[in-house]
Amino acid sequence: MCGIVGFTGKQDAAPILLNGLKKLEYRGYDSAGIAVCNAGGISLAKVSGRIARLCEKTDDGKNMPGFTGIGHTRWATHGAPTDINAHPHMSCDGRFSVVHNGIIENYMELRQELSSKGYIFASETDTEVIVHLIEMYYKGDFREAVMKAASRLEGSYALGVLCADCPDRLIAVREASPLILGIGIGENFFASDVTALVSHTRNVMYLDDGEFAELSPKGISVFDCTGASVHKKISHINWSIEAAEKGGFEHFMLKEIMEQPRAVESTISPRLQQNDIHLDDSDFSPEELKSIQRIIITACGSAYYAGCAGKTAIEKLCRLPVDVILASELRYAEPQIDEHTLLIVLSQSGETADTIAAMTECKKLGAKTLAIVNVVGSTIAKLADRTLYTWAGPEIAVATTKGYTTQLAVLYIFALYAAKTMKLLSREEYLRLLDALRSLPKKIQQALDMNPLLPKLAEKYSSNHSVFYIGRNSDYAVALEAALKMKEISYIHAEAYAAGELKHGTIALIDEGQPVIALCCNNKIWEKTANNIVEVKTRGAQVLALASKGNRAVLAQADDVIFIPQIDPMFQAAVEIIPLQLLAYHAAKAKGCDIDKPKNLAKSVTVE
Ligand code: F6R
Repeated sequence: MCGIVGFTGKQDAAPILLNGLKKLEYRGYDSAGIAVCNAGGISLAKVSGRIARLCEKTDDGKNMPGFTGIGHTRWATHGAPTDINAHPHMSCDGRFSVVHNGIIENYMELRQELSSKGYIFASETDTEVIVHLIEMYYKGDFREAVMKAASRLEGSYALGVLCADCPDRLIAVREASPLILGIGIGENFFASDVTALVSHTRNVMYLDDGEFAELSPKGISVFDCTGASVHKKISHINWSIEAAEKGGFEHFMLKEIMEQPRAVESTISPRLQQNDIHLDDSDFSPEELKSIQRIIITACGSAYYAGCAGKTAIEKLCRLPVDVILASELRYAEPQIDEHTLLIVLSQSGETADTIAAMTECKKLGAKTLAIVNVVGSTIAKLADRTLYTWAGPEIAVATTKGYTTQLAVLYIFALYAAKTMKLLSREEYLRLLDALRSLPKKIQQALDMNPLLPKLAEKYSSNHSVFYIGRNSDYAVALEAALKMKEISYIHAEAYAAGELKHGTIALIDEGQPVIALCCNNKIWEKTANNIVEVKTRGAQVLALASKGNRAVLAQADDVIFIPQIDPMFQAAVEIIPLQLLAYHAAKAKGCDIDKPKNLAKSVTVE
């Protein structure tokens, strides 16, 4: 989704803005632009397409001198991805320039009002109303004009504003769209995402909804919508710069796949102290847990699939009904929810619009909320009653991998914690499961060690226009995520099917050579899926099976077998997904796809 950067200091802004925009490329975008202010006024450059074009157009920023500026990567919503619709947008008098993330819901009426007053619109965007409003309200006070304009806006917005009359000042505004302030020495920054800041500063402040910030090289002041000063806490980012770079890997996705043992270790180990589990500052009392009658897990995309895979652990260990509901469905479903419902919200970015909306609806109905989020200080983390961070480090590739496994790891921790707190487990069983959970990073590493086998298998099983993934129960949950990985990065149609449902229609699609990936790791029912392997093979399918290490019997059924390191079945999904992430990666690589930035996708989906 769109990305914002802003800089003010004692060196040229343009190269810093371009560099910041490059760091935000992973979010997905279709046009980009920068505006820089100096004593001569504001200069502007914007292009449709890649940031490389913007660098060419500005000679890497050299032909745009000036120490204060704003930049933007746009993901088109209102208006096609053209040069004109790209941000920044300028006021008619050229005095102001604005970048915006989010959607202005009342832009049509504002546009009519402004047009009737003679303001000329250059673009089709909702954003342009903001810059004309600022111009309309400007009576010599930059801050006042921005505040008045913001008070007219409905919807979500993170704004960065430049004013030619104040060449060493920037104003940033946040309402339901993330914006982070970076504190440097003699220079200050803002960005929609810390990855654009870490190479300059690790000291940041998170703006809250309804807050404004005024930045100059000397400092940052934050105030609320009444103009009253707000004291903000300074947070320290402990990600290394390397964490946001490729570190020798060909793609961020491969790097992040390979990082999973370390990421899951970071998720688990701080919470497992000797034989105890602590949920950071989010511990529940036994009474509170016992008052829960129903758990709903909500999320979108892969995070939703992590919920599907983690559900069983909670259901089995806590003996509570768990429903996993897509956030985009839940927000309109008028669900039966009250104060006895625990809503678990999964989100890597913490900014997914549907997930935020579903959470807000459920909170209104009285649900208690527990967020499992990666990005610190994100909207979902702030909205929740309790937050457990996944501590996976920055995830740059659009397709999530370590985001998914670390979400699963937190669900496992929660399940074990809640069952222990409610005294639903014998000491022996608790210790056995704790040991198994501790071994998860090692098992994931063993699964990653199979990487050299995967390119050949990927070539064989991605040669068709479609692939089926079949499995039952926990295997089916993993199949859903595996098929999504294949679709989104290789553009091969992949369908996950509950193996027992094949006969109810889908088997009509199985022809000679059809690739089928059969997940047979669930040792209780693998034989049932093995029967389905026979059925599809009889119709000409080529079958790659996944089976638990030691299950030699699968060899007789499938054409190829990947053996998955064994762990307690409760935690199997987080290991089983690994070779399937690699399979999708190698299939996409063989096809020459843009793996880290798949077409039409954005990393953080901040609009509905
Ligand atoms: C797929 C993928 C998406 C996200 C989904 C939710 O690889 O990354 O399906 O899982 O958009 O995003 P978050 O977790 O940020 O809420």
